[in-house]
Amino acid sequence: MTENRSLSEPAEGVKSCCAGVYESDWARLLLGDSFHPGGLALTERLGELLSIGPHTRVLDVAAGKGTSGVFLARRLGCRVVGVDYGAVNVAEAARAAAEAGVSDRVSFVQGDAECLPFADGEFDAIVCECAYCTFPNKTATSREFHRVVRPGGRLGLADLTRSGTLTEELNTLLGWVACLGDAQPVDEYARQLEVAGFTQLAVESHDEALSRMVHDVRAKLLAVELMTKLGKIMLPVGNIDQAKEMARTAASCVQDGRLGYSLLTALRP
Ligand SMILES: C[S@@+](CC[C@H](N)C(=O)[O-])C[C@H]1O[C@@H](n2cnc3c(N)ncnc32)[C@H](O)[C@@H]1O
Repeated sequence: MTENRSLSEPAEGVKSCCAGVYESDWARLLLGDSFHPGGLALTERLGELLSIGPHTRVLDVAAGKGTSGVFLARRLGCRVVGVDYGAVNVAEAARAAAEAGVSDRVSFVQGDAECLPFADGEFDAIVCECAYCTFPNKTATSREFHRVVRPGGRLGLADLTRSGTLTEELNTLLGWVACLGDAQPVDEYARQLEVAGFTQLAVESHDEALSRMVHDVRAKLLAVELMTKLGKIMLPVGNIDQAKEMARTAASCVQDGRLGYSLLTALRP
């Protein structure tokens, strides 16, 4: 077991701040439409690991702008429901599905990963990319994953991982919503899923994808800094100097192996 990190911010504040950040112009400028390391190539890999096919009913938890859900439906022919805390994300995701011509198979609803608005066993597979680390109550979320996937169904979690201790500098509200503050050792994610009832845990490491993302974000922050100083966009939490310092710290943690990125898959027996 690892120490429990916590923030003084109430849980609802963390979730709505996270949704606000990923609905902002900031996120789109820094990350594009796919808010996780490795982009759609790693989403496709997750789809392969979960054996998603035309008959699979997939739930995308914390679906963001719907980019992964639309991609999986088009590439693998599956049906997808995406859930996200942010109403703006949900509306934009539905628009993306309509524009891609897959609204008959892909839909989005607003909801909380810690209390999913779905029936027991409703899905064959769950994907959750780069979001589990931001949820204040990971025990509740992993129980919900287990409840809404059918027996014999699979979970695919993609997330930041840490080795050893991260600097306290990252344990801020901005650090949490940037997926850094509460990144867990991969064994701890596995333990949480096992406690919820999942078995057959497998891990695939993709640290280089995180390294590329952090490098790109640092380069784009220079342009975003100028736009922020000109008053053209506003950071929803913290300020530009904190964001630059956090990106610098994250880059050094990635370089010395304290931060990585992994895909975890698991079975509901
Ligand atoms: C880093 S983004 C990842 C989005 C998407 N999975 C992707 O890879 O593009 C994190 C997402 O988690 C969502 N989120 C945060 N807390 C949530 C919660 N408790 N329930 C559902 N979604 C949540 C945010 O609104 C945001 O869209």
